[in-house]
Amino acid sequence: MNPVIQFPVYHLNNQVLATAGTELTEEFMLDLCSRNREHHELSSLLEYGNVRSDLMRQFRIQPFDVIFSEEEIVDCIVQAMEHIHLPVTILNGLDYFRDNDFHTYRHMLIISALSTLIGQYLKSDHQEHQLDDLVGIGPTHDFGKISVPLSILLKKKPLTQTELELMKHHALAGYVLLSYYFKDHTCAAAVIARDHHERRDGSGYPQGIRQNNLMAEITTVCDIYDALVAQRPYRPISYDNRTALEELTWMAERGELGWEGVKALVAYNRENKPSLNEFQISLEHRGTPPVNNVYGKIAKEE
Ligand SMILES: [Fe+2]
Ligand SMILES: [Fe+2]
Repeated sequence: MNPVIQFPVYHLNNQVLATAGTELTEEFMLDLCSRNREHHELSSLLEYGNVRSDLMRQFRIQPFDVIFSEEEIVDCIVQAMEHIHLPVTILNGLDYFRDNDFHTYRHMLIISALSTLIGQYLKSDHQEHQLDDLVGIGPTHDFGKISVPLSILLKKKPLTQTELELMKHHALAGYVLLSYYFKDHTCAAAVIARDHHERRDGSGYPQGIRQNNLMAEITTVCDIYDALVAQRPYRPISYDNRTALEELTWMAERGELGWEGVKALVAYNRENKPSLNEFQISLEHRGTPPVNNVYGKIAKEE
């Protein structure tokens, strides 16, 4: 079954790329990619605008200061990210987020760095060279949020069901937009934008398929982690680092996430950064989610 988009997807110049109700068939996606006649100009992510200094600032903010505590780790990730080159239109899109929704901008940057880190860590254990592609994706997994009204992205209260549907639209909108800009609907950036909210047990969205793509799942683990620990205007208290990691551990126990990405993130939060085979995650002594935390909660329609 092909996914069907519920809301229109617009090109950054406001031209409609896909109307509401479009079934994203192979034929439609191939035609969409061929409609992009612009010259495929790529440019360096880290050399663009303030990206490098904005990213370095994120590394010093809790709890990322623990993960990126060693200069060697920061150097390794920055070196890997120096290889990221993106279509200029996508880099211009990052400016849109930096100017209008700084949280989403910083979120995409830190997820890019974190998933690069986890990908490199797992690669050394699994010899999965496909994970190298994680480096090339860059901060694009939530690019489809460009199709979500700012009033929803910036809302200071939990979203209503209707608003949530519009927010969820970002996954397929990102797939359409990134396929168009990369002129390739099978590229990792487009596939990860589409699939990063799917779950291993099929409980996610947009398609409710069983997630079996390790690259997408690494993005998912980092995405949930940042969603839990980040300060948001609508959330009085975010999860502390330990409770956020325990929440991810619960999700792996329930079969929503695989263990690899969760274990890698836990390992990087330990001082000695053990390898995958060197440690077990303790399932005891759990923390308590903060009172008034509204992660995953839905508000009544207004
Ligand atoms: Fe997302
Ligand atoms: Fe995200």
